[in-house]
Amino acid sequence: MNQKVALVMGGGAGTGRATVLAFSAEGAKVVIADINEAGGLETLDQVKAQGGEGLFVRADMGNAADIQKVLAQTQLDFGGLHMVSNNAALGAPNKPVTELTEEEWDRCMAVTLRGIWLCMKYQLPLIEASGGGAIVNIASVSGIRGEAFESAYSAAKGGVINLSKTVAVEYAKRGVRVNTVCPGGIDSGGMTFYLGKNPEIRDRVLNTHAMGRLAEPKEIADAVVYLCSERASFITGHDLVVDGGVMVRSNVVDL
Ligand SMILES: NC(=O)c1ccc[n+]([C@@H]2O[C@H](COP(=O)([O-])OP(=O)(O)OC[C@H]3O[C@@H](n4cnc5c(N)ncnc54)[C@H](O)[C@@H]3O)[C@@H](O)[C@H]2O)c1
Repeated sequence: MNQKVALVMGGGAGTGRATVLAFSAEGAKVVIADINEAGGLETLDQVKAQGGEGLFVRADMGNAADIQKVLAQTQLDFGGLHMVSNNAALGAPNKPVTELTEEEWDRCMAVTLRGIWLCMKYQLPLIEASGGGAIVNIASVSGIRGEAFESAYSAAKGGVINLSKTVAVEYAKRGVRVNTVCPGGIDSGGMTFYLGKNPEIRDRVLNTHAMGRLAEPKEIADAVVYLCSERASFITGHDLVVDGGVMVRSNVVDL
């Protein structure tokens, strides 16, 4: 990926940071955008420590002006953009669908679905003008199946999958491939925090994965980098499930 430029929206921690580091290890120049300045700068330090070149811009993925600021800085410093992972998301409180408030629904949608659309709206022209490339939006297995008490998050992630397929079709002849990665549980972010506080739920969650464990952030990052690479040159509009066997598992037999 030498001479290529990769952007990770939400690259300041966990999966996003692992994705930045994986792009950088492949030789790409990396742009880290995150709402958390300390996390983003820490990721940039790690890029430099492994001999890479990068840039951090503080940005909220739900805010058009921030997204445009990231892209303007990317153009200025690195002269174009080829690969993107739109990684950040915001969940809603776990509640029955009838108890969720309008505000909770709207906050989740504003980043997790609308934010992905907003990112692509401004990223696509720059990628096209840079000679083409690829976008990977991070969805979830929760966007494929029903997830009790997570109606807003599940709906948003399902929306990300179909939005990505739609944009993939619109840009298939214009040199931009668009795919999603649908992770199962990842040992990062809100999941690590939540399971750390609820050990009995942790066992249940691990058990939903046929492999009996969560993903390391790098295992998701590697799938993202693959989909952005030339090795995936004929793959577009695909939702790649990376879940340690969540979606294929039936719980009939305890293995
Ligand atoms: N953690 C899991 O088990 C899990 C499972 C399935 C899918 N996912 C999805 O994977 C992706 C990564 O999740 P993660 O839990 O690994 O998080 P992560 O560790 O990658 O951290 C997310 C980063 O996004 C940043 N961020 C949050 N809101 C932002 C905003 N509005 N604008 C810019 N940056 C913002 C945070 O500061 C943080 O640095 C998300 O899309 C999530 O929904 C996570």
